Amino acid sequence: MTPIRKAIFPVAGLGTRFLPATKAMPKEMLTVVDRPLIQHVVDEAREAGIEHFIFVTGRNKGVIEDHFDRQVELELTLSERGKRSELEALARDLPGPGATSFTRQQSPLGLGHAVWCARDLVGDEPFALLLPDVLVQSRKSCLAQMMDAYRDLREPANMIAVEEVPAERTPMYGVVGIGKAEGKAFSITQMVEKPPKGTAPSNLIITGRYILQPQIFGLLEKQEEGAGGEIQLTDAMIRLAERTPFYGFRFEGTTFDCGSKIGFLSANVAYALARDDIAPAFRDELKRLLGER
Ligand code: G1P
Repeated sequence: MTPIRKAIFPVAGLGTRFLPATKAMPKEMLTVVDRPLIQHVVDEAREAGIEHFIFVTGRNKGVIEDHFDRQVELELTLSERGKRSELEALARDLPGPGATSFTRQQSPLGLGHAVWCARDLVGDEPFALLLPDVLVQSRKSCLAQMMDAYRDLREPANMIAVEEVPAERTPMYGVVGIGKAEGKAFSITQMVEKPPKGTAPSNLIITGRYILQPQIFGLLEKQEEGAGGEIQLTDAMIRLAERTPFYGFRFEGTTFDCGSKIGFLSANVAYALARDDIAPAFRDELKRLLGER
């Protein structure tokens, strides 16, 4: 099967829920502990073997491009001061030369439109898509788990990460209907974007990690507006599922919806508690704060 080499990261969103923090800074650069959200998601993709990183940006997102480039002045200063480990860490985080591409979504027409904007950069091969609002904390990266399951399939297919949520939360997400199990994956019978209360086909939501066949681009080109007046990726995926096998994958890990303040703050706590260098002191500080309330 054609290997998955490229990943798309849609980073054009305005981040209105985090104003004023996002007035002059992209929401994808908000930090969880000491790494920007987008870096966490790129780390996940790299762990899964992705070689090329495609960012669909918008106006005021130039900092993301700078973040994935060398910062020569900083490197010189660090080197003069003998800060070897910091220098090495910066080098480790950097995708190799030519391994990043940037294109712009000129108008905020929806996730489907953002993905379509990357069609020429992806070309005619299957690709991964990672939404940087969603962080998944897990032993093996969520996308790497999906890649393993994908490689076990017998034919080219599409696969999306899904997870269970309480019924009252389903109207905020894409929701799938569950069919026959195939290894760790199961076939998808239905997909609905932001189903009205009480109409969702299950409690399993689309989490923000996708492996898609390139036929999605042709479908997105003709896709009409869906939920919220936006060009929805889910609507194009429904049509893709009519012609190519489509699987849901229940991954192991904890999800943080960093598009919401509570999800973002929880991610900071969880990621700090997972760090050996921070956790002991941070745990004491949390106890102190919680004890005072
Ligand atoms: C998007 C997708 C939705 C998915 C969600 C995950 O929605 O359209 O299917 O469940 O991401 O976070 P958005 O968060 O852009 O409204």
